Amino acid sequence: MPWLNPLSLSEQVQTQQDNFLSTLEATLQDPATDRPALVRDLLAQFLYGRRFDELQAQLPLVAQQLDSRNITFEAEHYTATDQEQFSRVKPLLWLWKNLDLSPLGQNPAFAIPVRAVLAKHIFKRVGKNFKCWQNVEFSVGYNLEVGDDVVIHRYAFLDDIGGIELHDGASVSDYVNIYSHTHSVIDSPDVTLKKTIIGRGVRLTYHSTILAGSIISDDAMVATHALVRGKIEPHAIAMGLPARTTRFKLQGPFASYGVDSRTHSECRGIKANPEFPAPTPVQTRKPEPEKNP
Ligand SMILES: CC(C)(COP(=O)(O)OP(=O)(O)OC[C@H]1O[C@@H](n2cnc3c(N)ncnc32)[C@H](O)[C@@H]1OP(=O)(O)O)[C@@H](O)C(=O)NCCC(=O)NCCS
Repeated sequence: MPWLNPLSLSEQVQTQQDNFLSTLEATLQDPATDRPALVRDLLAQFLYGRRFDELQAQLPLVAQQLDSRNITFEAEHYTATDQEQFSRVKPLLWLWKNLDLSPLGQNPAFAIPVRAVLAKHIFKRVGKNFKCWQNVEFSVGYNLEVGDDVVIHRYAFLDDIGGIELHDGASVSDYVNIYSHTHSVIDSPDVTLKKTIIGRGVRLTYHSTILAGSIISDDAMVATHALVRGKIEPHAIAMGLPARTTRFKLQGPFASYGVDSRTHSECRGIKANPEFPAPTPVQTRKPEPEKNP
């Protein structure tokens, strides 16, 4: 028996939603579409229930905020962000974030299919049946590679500035944080970008954190609140802070693996800031052992 029950809406509501989706899809596929204007117009309807020009006449300051040309994202402040790529996806990220503030965005039946359409035009790649629940955040969006049947749950944060791969069937639970950049302990502006790889069928469970450059192999599981830094083997269950493999599933081996940390070469990282030496030198030491009085 599946865990999730299929739910259906009335025919009339379903038809209205389907029409909206197919129009959105066609509009985004058209390279001539003015994305900031499209998003501004949609948000005026979703958030304020009126046309953008009406809102602008009545509340100009509020209307300005709907146009992504008038706002800044944190990612735009980073030197590592490719400004050209980001400018293409920025209006759609603005729509994604603000849709979540509306009743439409909090309705999974409407918003999950809308996010799947937006993902096609934001991510580097997205497979079939992408399912993203509400209040999920990305840093740049364009550096995400997502396979088939991937699910991302509420309040997850995916910092994809250095790249994130989520392979087929991966599941990201509520409040998970996945990073792909790291700062030097001594010089905060010394940033290294490292792609983070989440294998096929991996489950990152509630509140876990995955640091930059981690490689989590196919069918592994990260326990709630665990902190992964490095590699996790296939079928492993990694727990704790920092995460260590304390169990293996009674499953496997598989005939073949897409992501296997035992053979996957480690990401050396790309210096976002060329002023600093690569690789980052050792910058910490262990505390001195306490001397007996
Ligand atoms: C804390 C941190 C800076 C440690 O860096 P580091 O001194 O280079 O540490 P290492 O990666 O060499 O690990 C040293 C030891 O600490 C442990 N460790 C590292 N980070 C840890 C963490 N967050 N919690 C618990 N243990 C941790 C490692 O497992 C390792 O243990 P071991 O010696 O038993 O193997 C790093 O892991 C971290 O948390 N990075 C995130 C930085 C961040 O948030 N940046 C954003 C700032 S804007």
